[in-house]
Amino acid sequence: MRNILAATALIAAAAISTAAYAQQKLSADDAIKAAFAKAPDDWKDRLMPDETMKHCSAFKNNPPAAIAAQIQKAAKASIKYPDDGKFMGDWKKGEAIAQSGYGMRFTDYPPQRASGGNCYACHQLAPKELSYGTIGPSLLNYGKLKGFKEEAVKAVYERIYNSHATLPCSNMPRLGANGVLTIDQIKDVVALLMSPESPVNK
Ligand code: HEC
Repeated sequence: MRNILAATALIAAAAISTAAYAQQKLSADDAIKAAFAKAPDDWKDRLMPDETMKHCSAFKNNPPAAIAAQIQKAAKASIKYPDDGKFMGDWKKGEAIAQSGYGMRFTDYPPQRASGGNCYACHQLAPKELSYGTIGPSLLNYGKLKGFKEEAVKAVYERIYNSHATLPCSNMPRLGANGVLTIDQIKDVVALLMSPESPVNK
């Protein structure tokens, strides 16, 4: 009963604040900004959608061909490639990065260590990990299914760096372009997906 009362109070509070925002005619973007008034300066950009997000929201992730092409072009231009021309690092490090959801949250600020890729939150990868999300397709046997081909290795790198370069308005985070993962970390994750020795392909 107390829980129900508490929940009702919460819903009422939410309704009141929603109504308050509606009265002030705040947009959803402004409401989000207002909710993070104390965000550190180098955080604030993240509260407003960039060009890509604006387009994707305006067209509910289904932009007309010309806009999709524009998004894709900008995404391709954002990709930085490894200096040594090698796309694969260490799959063991990649597995740790795929497991880690550290980074970019208020509680991780200022950062104490490198961010993770949080891949398991959306994808199945190595079969040993039973806890995974299903927003993204299963990546089990990914390298094997791609025949471990060189062009597939590069394609995975690009996909992780900025998914909109492959699929405009993709729901996958832009892990390289948004500075979540470094080039070396992305190489480690590519190895997790594409190396024949990786548990993903065994
Ligand atoms: C918030 C959820 C989310 C996270 C986190 C995420 N992805 Fe994705 N990923 C998706 C979605 C949704 C798709 C399908 C849409 C697309 O292809 O862009 C996808 C697609 C992919 C694909 C293409 C699969 C194919 O069909 O060929 C690869 C490869 C991939 N993700 C790898 C990763 C890796 C590696 C990580 C961690 C570094 C990761 N993803 C993190 C949601 C996510």
